[in-house]
Amino acid sequence: MKKTHLISLGLLFLLFCGIFSSACQQQKTEKVHSQVSSYPLSVPKGFPEPNISNDNPLTIESVALGKKLFFDPILSSDSSIACASCHHPRKAFSDTVKFSRGVSGRLGKRNAPPLMNLAYNTAFLRDGGARTLALQVMVPLTDHAEMNLTLKEAVKRLKNQPEYVEMTQKAYNREISGFTITRALAAFQKTLISGNSPYDQYHFEGQKDAFSPAQIRGLALFQSKKTNCTQCHSGFNFTSNAYENNGLYIHYKDEGRFLITRDSVDMAKFKVPSLRNIALTAPYMHDGSLNTLEEVIRHYEMGGKPHVSKSPHIRPFELTEQEREDLKAFLEGLTEVNLDHY
Ligand code: HEC
Ligand code: HEC
Repeated sequence: MKKTHLISLGLLFLLFCGIFSSACQQQKTEKVHSQVSSYPLSVPKGFPEPNISNDNPLTIESVALGKKLFFDPILSSDSSIACASCHHPRKAFSDTVKFSRGVSGRLGKRNAPPLMNLAYNTAFLRDGGARTLALQVMVPLTDHAEMNLTLKEAVKRLKNQPEYVEMTQKAYNREISGFTITRALAAFQKTLISGNSPYDQYHFEGQKDAFSPAQIRGLALFQSKKTNCTQCHSGFNFTSNAYENNGLYIHYKDEGRFLITRDSVDMAKFKVPSLRNIALTAPYMHDGSLNTLEEVIRHYEMGGKPHVSKSPHIRPFELTEQEREDLKAFLEGLTEVNLDHY
């Protein structure tokens, strides 16, 4: 009697779940949440709350898993290349060479950007071709010239490693899959927040001596109508998140944003990069074609090459030698004071 009672209760519950699946789903999610601890993300003064998607909450467990994956060459076909091989922590997760080499020494076609403050980005890659950080993972993982591994093979390899099995179970309460690999890497990368530079101390923390007189003059130049820099490198992260052409070439080898939208107005436009940690991320531009900040400043002074897509904000201006040094000193002041903890 008691047993049938239980069975019918169970059936009723199943029926309830069938009809009100969202209620049961919620119950399931809450159960997962009770086993993990939310990650204590610290948002620097002057920064808005980052965009953390609800379907991939930052937890200590998911971030730890993502960090392990990021530094592990297991994700490349010959187990020689990790994400960190091209994104060096001490270089704000950028690379020091024009084009990075992937498996078997294969050369890429774009310069590897820094990976800081990505939680604030609206799209990823220099052409904005990846809408989310989780989707972006598929690009380096499967690219012939990067890690050259299928997602299926990645899952198979990780399932053979008891530590990954356990960490994934803890973080996501499910088996290793494309879902867990891409979400964990996204979670780790969202914690890479850089907001403690001399500029932040000066501007947001009110420490007036954090910036030198040259840096203060450089900041004014950067914000001036003469240089126009803040037309594109605006806000707390020094980017408008727009796609622009800054006149590097008359003929571009890389069609940039056009490759994604196929709209001629986007020809040879690239995502405006953040200028945070710029002193650490040379060489510069989508193709790493400018080696130093002096070269970058000279490029802007010349007003760029006449490309049809070139922004009207890129036009010639002249700086004195002192002003060039001031602008450079300001840009260097956007460098994170402490990158040691990664
Ligand atoms: C062989 C070098 C190489 C490896 C390995 C590599 N990357 Fe990259 N990464 C690049 C290059 C080059 C770009 C720029 C590509 C583009 O814009 O099309 C890039 C871009 C990115 C971006 C976009 C950043 C932005 O500002 O839009 C993210 C995020 C990223 N990589 C994360 C990763 C992760 C996670 C891994 C490991 C799964 C990884 N990368 C492995 C070279 C590499
Ligand atoms: C019309 C918009 C625009 C203006 C104005 C502008 N930039 Fe840029 N900047 C860009 C774009 C777009 C890129 C990336 C181009 C590429 O990837 O080829 C860039 C790249 C850079 C880079 C290299 C970043 C990196 O990570 O490679 C630096 C440094 C830089 N700009 C500084 C400045 C300074 C200083 C000024 C003012 C003198 C300025 N920019 C004005 C759009 C602009």
